[in-house]
Amino acid sequence: ELSLQEKASEWSGVDSADAFAIDNTNLFQKLGLQTFINLSTNFYNRVYDDDEEEWFRSIFVNSKKEEAIQNQYEFFVQRMGGPPLYSQRKGHPALIGRHRPFPVTHQAAERWLYHMQKALDSTPDIDEDSKIKMNNFFRHEFHQITLPILIKPILNEIVYTFLLFRHTAFFLVAGDELKNQNGRVPCKHGASK
Ligand code: HEM
Repeated sequence: ELSLQEKASEWSGVDSADAFAIDNTNLFQKLGLQTFINLSTNFYNRVYDDDEEEWFRSIFVNSKKEEAIQNQYEFFVQRMGGPPLYSQRKGHPALIGRHRPFPVTHQAAERWLYHMQKALDSTPDIDEDSKIKMNNFFRHEFHQITLPILIKPILNEIVYTFLLFRHTAFFLVAGDELKNQNGRVPCKHGASK
């Protein structure tokens, strides 16, 4: 888990200390519930109206906008010093698992971040300092979410290659043992003789 966080820091260029600066101040107390509702509403209004990148909008076709807004602001409230609204309603956030059904590619992640930046800019009452803190947190989190999904095919490849080598290695060992038993390597063509 730690190394995943380190990787997220490396890839996002956001130091863990900066990403978790949101824990040093209580942004919920500072900004209030309504600001978080406004932020998520602005964000999902943008997402559901994304005409430039329709493939991105299509990731959300099976989600109701009102629910998506509530899921998001309840999570942000809880993560940024407010009451645990999200967990009371839905349990552990488990964001990596909950994002697994969606094609969270690098491109999608960039678009997510783009809309979030615009949403932050268009939500009044978020001061510059809070904005920087939240942005660093989002950038870090989004790499946390995307990394396991992005590296899965690479991991599969590595495991597959390893198994292939392992298979080949034991194939050779088996051949060697047969040779020792029979005094010669059994050969497909010679087997019937
Ligand atoms: C849910 C996509 C990044 C937090 C969702 C949903 C989609 C989605 C399609 C389902 C909508 C719903 O019903 O709530 C993406 C994509 C991302 C991304 C493409 C690009 C990287 C993030 C980040 C965070 C986040 C960075 C947090 C900082 C959440 C939360 C939910 C959610 C809290 C609600 C989960 C649930 O209760 O099921 N996301 N997301 N997402 N996302 Fe993301």
